[in-house]
Amino acid sequence: MERRLDRPERNTNLPKSAGKVLIVDDESFVRMALNEALRSWEYETIEAGTVAEALELFEQEEPQIALLDIDLPDGSGLDVLTAIKERRPETIVVMITGNVDVENSVSALRGGAHDFISKPVRLEELRVTLRNAAETQSLRREVHHARRERSVAFNFSQIIGQSDAIKKAIELGERIADSDVASILLQGETGTGKDLFAKAIHFASDRSTHPYLAINCAALPATLIESELFGYEKGAFTDAKQRKEGLFEQAQGGTIFLDEIGEMELSLQAKLLRVLENGVFRRVGGLKDIPLDVRIIAASNQNLKKAGEAGTFRLDLYFRLSVIQIDIPPLRERGDDVLLLAKHYTELANQKRRGKKLKGLTPAVERIFKDYEWTGNVRELRNIIERSSILEDGEQITTTHLPADLLENSGGNLSGQGYAIKLPIDGIPLETVEFELAKQAFERTGGNLTQAAKLLDISRDQLRYKLRKSQKE
Ligand SMILES: Nc1ncnc2c1ncn2[C@@H]1O[C@H](COP(=O)(O)OP(=O)(O)OP(=O)(O)O)[C@@H](O)[C@H]1O
Ligand SMILES: [Mg+2]
Repeated sequence: MERRLDRPERNTNLPKSAGKVLIVDDESFVRMALNEALRSWEYETIEAGTVAEALELFEQEEPQIALLDIDLPDGSGLDVLTAIKERRPETIVVMITGNVDVENSVSALRGGAHDFISKPVRLEELRVTLRNAAETQSLRREVHHARRERSVAFNFSQIIGQSDAIKKAIELGERIADSDVASILLQGETGTGKDLFAKAIHFASDRSTHPYLAINCAALPATLIESELFGYEKGAFTDAKQRKEGLFEQAQGGTIFLDEIGEMELSLQAKLLRVLENGVFRRVGGLKDIPLDVRIIAASNQNLKKAGEAGTFRLDLYFRLSVIQIDIPPLRERGDDVLLLAKHYTELANQKRRGKKLKGLTPAVERIFKDYEWTGNVRELRNIIERSSILEDGEQITTTHLPADLLENSGGNLSGQGYAIKLPIDGIPLETVEFELAKQAFERTGGNLTQAAKLLDISRDQLRYKLRKSQKE
């Protein structure tokens, strides 16, 4: 292969042979010019002047890249595109068009063309396009691989819970995953599993072999989110030195997860709504409508309807998104699921730390867990088990290492409306209950009678009496 020594090779992205390129154009001087440029960039080249030649060479030589002119003597470059994508879809195809024809462009993009270049071909533009294409391709391979692994990791059966509340959410998720629903709203408090649901829906859908891409609307300013989502054309703004594909384009065929959509700025909400209604979008600074084949899963931990009524969220966007809405229940409304999840996380802790053999929770901890508010939901539970499993020496998770607010906020609301102490079915001597609580108060305060008595709202003497009385029996 020819090597040009007069120009230092600064491009480290390209491997030694950058790949084999099939050049298809009926004009031999165009082929020659492309040929020379491509070879100087270390590509191998093969040439064809007709559809028939192109297909034959494609079969024989198996190029990774094809540059296709549209007007050919015996047909259209679009037919070559279709044939190539049928045979080896991973081939990168760049269309070369004499005049910008929107209809052709849209059908070529739909047909899987990577990009367009208009004639006369500017070599530097071609070079950048090919380099981007190569990156996209290797990324695609990685993503494809990662995706296959992840599709095992993220499915509905991994969502733990037997309560009616969570089962209802899971059933709805499973039902709509494989439907043609274009947008879904997941609403639930922080830590309830919105991320988990979004992935499960994607990987249970026929979109699972296409990308799953996520963006957090709270993490970036609106202008950045806009260019991340829509991409931009060269020169759309000062820093736009090159055209960039946005997430909508990268995720074609797949799913985009718009996390914390309630934080999205109103102006961008309007643009998103338009995209959802029209099914097409434009790059920032672009004039071409690009058809959108992406499912949008939006998530929010606030009530978007209320936000809409308060004017911080567009109600029309809410109505559009909420056609299919899944409400993910807070952990405190999932009954015994909290114990199932606790068991799951203690088992994980055992696997993670050799020598740990945690068998479960003491009955007292179980009770506390069931009563607690869990404002941080499953994430909070996971973190607490994680912490206790590190600190606990015994075989059970006891109250010893639970955070103080967990102990304070559970079972302690005797003075409030709801009494947490329940009468056992067979009854229990009142004195036993008194003694148990007196002992707990005594232990909690480290044996400080005054403080313990205060917790029980009795005098020191009364407390001493109750503790002693039971000891005598
Ligand atoms: N039902 C469940 N079964 C197993 N793991 C769960 C379940 N629900 C949540 N988790 C786990 O809890 C953690 C928090 O869940 P996730 O990140 O999906 O919550 P989220 O609703 O997206 O929270 P945020 O609003 O803060 O983004 C994750 O580690 C997730 O795997
Ligand atoms: Mg999340």
